[in-house]
Amino acid sequence: MLMNRVETILMNSGARRALQRWYEAPALLRLGGQLAPGARALELGCGAGYGTELILERFGADRVDAVDLDPAMVDRARRRLARHGERVRLAVGDVTDLRRALDAADGSYDAVFDFGILHHVDDWQAAVGDVARVLRPGGRFYFDEVTADALATRGYRWLFDHPTQNRFTAAEFVAELERRGLAVGRRWRTRIRGHYVLGVADRVA
Ligand SMILES: C[S@@+](CC[C@H](N)C(=O)[O-])C[C@H]1O[C@@H](n2cnc3c(N)ncnc32)[C@H](O)[C@@H]1O
Repeated sequence: MLMNRVETILMNSGARRALQRWYEAPALLRLGGQLAPGARALELGCGAGYGTELILERFGADRVDAVDLDPAMVDRARRRLARHGERVRLAVGDVTDLRRALDAADGSYDAVFDFGILHHVDDWQAAVGDVARVLRPGGRFYFDEVTADALATRGYRWLFDHPTQNRFTAAEFVAELERRGLAVGRRWRTRIRGHYVLGVADRVA
């Protein structure tokens, strides 16, 4: 589901970039570490491309493919990321069908990143299934998500548009990853009374 106007403004703000740079990326790096040299990464729902830059510069990816449903956000990302040349490939598409969006073959990525996007997806379980498909065995999924507990608050309901059915708690999200062969173990954390869940998972062989 596309963001409404309020969320679009918020996601393109300096506050969002600061949170991503100074909190989310360091927390994910503590749990999952940097990528090996030459790593190929995928970012789900890249928005304006700030996360893609962090994946290149902080996580150490060699190349990043990034996909978003919103052509206007992909345009913004294209402008932001132009200086990285062929290290970045952007596409408009749906994360529930990465083969169609990016022609993504099975096992083709060393890492996949989800900076707060799967709570926008009606069939988020299908997206998790495709993440498991495109990660190579041993590849890593870095995630930071908004749970049903947050989406049920008055602030989220008044300010933003999200799917209302089939949302997930932190524990349900982690259980779905495990069910799809993405091993999380104890490498996940919640914040603000379970409103957000952040962690890493490794693709089992
Ligand atoms: C809350 S924003 C997060 C953007 C960015 N990852 C960030 O952290 O700033 C969610 C993004 O997911 C995109 N999106 C929503 N549903 C999607 C889908 N099914 N496939 C791909 N992108 C989607 C939206 O267009 C939006 O850019």
